[in-house]
Amino acid sequence: MLKPPPPYTLREMRPSDINAVMAIEHVVFPTPWRASAYEYEITRNRLADYQVLLVGLGDRPRQLIGYAGTWLLADELHVSTIAVSRDWQGKGLGELLLLNMLTLAYDMPVTVATLEVRRGNLVAQALYSKYGFQVVGERRRYYEGKEDALIMTTAPLDAAYRVFLRERRGILFQRLQVELS
Ligand SMILES: CC(C)(COP(=O)(O)OP(=O)(O)OC[C@H]1O[C@@H](n2cnc3c(N)ncnc32)[C@H](O)[C@@H]1OP(=O)(O)O)[C@@H](O)C(=O)NCCC(=O)NCCS
Repeated sequence: MLKPPPPYTLREMRPSDINAVMAIEHVVFPTPWRASAYEYEITRNRLADYQVLLVGLGDRPRQLIGYAGTWLLADELHVSTIAVSRDWQGKGLGELLLLNMLTLAYDMPVTVATLEVRRGNLVAQALYSKYGFQVVGERRRYYEGKEDALIMTTAPLDAAYRVFLRERRGILFQRLQVELS
């Protein structure tokens, strides 16, 4: 698990986080998951790993501002979701969540990371491309029978990719510190 610079922290998602997760989910996704899906993922799905991003500003209680999840599918790490609260987007925090999941992958028996993304979600695609994901296929009309999904996959999660992740982490942590100072 990454330890980002303060005031940010990352930790595993808990059932008590689900209300805050749903508040973000309903704003940022056109077809939000139900709370029960998150509950299943974090309490019963042994192949799932869900992490949340918190910010603690001044005396205020720490606030949940993002989350990401993965499934371990055979030798693949499948990114099932990633989201940042609208007010906190564009500050490198989606990148932090993705980088954290990819870093955690090195503790698992996985060889690549994959995901599906809406064809029209160019922001998310730009984030994934930055981390070496490439389009390897598509699922026609995957979302509500309307929008296509692109299937994106990383290069092998080998030693070279790990070095790349370390480099990205250095640059990102510096950015997170500068943007809040
Ligand atoms: C996709 C999402 C997680 C990105 O998080 P974010 O915190 O806004 O993005 P970051 O600030 O970390 O940006 C990381 C990279 O994403 C891309 N990106 C972010 N905002 C962008 C924008 N407005 N336009 C184009 N690319 C953008 C860039 O490649 C950026 O790297 P850069 O800062 O070096 O340019 C966030 O926008 C979100 O929650 N969207 C709604 C939910 C969603 O679509 N999830 C993905 C489902 S597949």
